[in-house]
Amino acid sequence: MKKFMYIGLFFLISSLVLAFFKSDAWIGQNDDIGQQPVSSLILENNKEGQTAGQTKKSLGARPILPSPVWVIGSYDKNGRSNAMTSAWAGICSSRPPCVAISLRKETYTYGNILEKKAFTINIPSESQAAYAAYFGSVSGRDLNKFEVTGLTPVKSEIVDAPYIKEFPLILECKLKQTLEIGSHTMFIGEIMDIKVDESILTEDGGLDLEKLKGFFFLPGRGKFYRYGELLGDVAALARKIKEK
Ligand SMILES: Cc1cc2nc3c(=O)[nH]c(=O)nc-3n(C[C@H](O)[C@H](O)[C@H](O)COP(=O)(O)O)c2cc1C
Repeated sequence: MKKFMYIGLFFLISSLVLAFFKSDAWIGQNDDIGQQPVSSLILENNKEGQTAGQTKKSLGARPILPSPVWVIGSYDKNGRSNAMTSAWAGICSSRPPCVAISLRKETYTYGNILEKKAFTINIPSESQAAYAAYFGSVSGRDLNKFEVTGLTPVKSEIVDAPYIKEFPLILECKLKQTLEIGSHTMFIGEIMDIKVDESILTEDGGLDLEKLKGFFFLPGRGKFYRYGELLGDVAALARKIKEK
């Protein structure tokens, strides 16, 4: 009888020891990472494409950075005004002052800019966000976007392209260069002048972003987000670190 009791006790203790090691509890307390043992966290992360030991998650090679919302004004070969929204865009040179926008060949604007060697960049305020969304959702090949929206195309006196009267900030650009990249062709435009509503200027003639009430686009999410709140002076922020 005693012999059977010892055998039973032996099996009970062995299975408890085995369960303890299998549970990863031996690694230690992991309160700060949600009670889960470290090894199982690493395994879960690996499933989502993370390399063991890294704290960043890989999202793969995708263009998903916050981007500007610029509406590109152009004339077609018959002199009809068109507007399309572009987010693959930014400043690319200070001297001469240049911007780059990247367009797919399928857009109507693509042929217009090549034809007229000019375009305008029209930067909307948040109250004009619906226009920016609309200009990016239909093609001027199929309809007249200015007629539909009731916005006013104004002929630039400097370049062969129209700008949108109601938008607060305009860049008039001459096509300087094109660059084939892949899905998109980059159009580099030299800024010939900037037209701005006085209502969005500071007293010393700078841009007042709180008055412009601009917004940017978050690709991948398909959403517009506001910007414009002052975070800090760049030189002063850099000094904080330099003088440490
Ligand atoms: C927020 C937003 C950003 C866009 N950015 C671009 C861009 O950078 N390049 C591009 O080729 N198309 C872009 N598009 C799509 C074009 O605006 C869309 O194809 C438009 O209908 C083209 O107009 P068009 O054919 O009259 O030129 C964007 C659309 C939206 C809504």
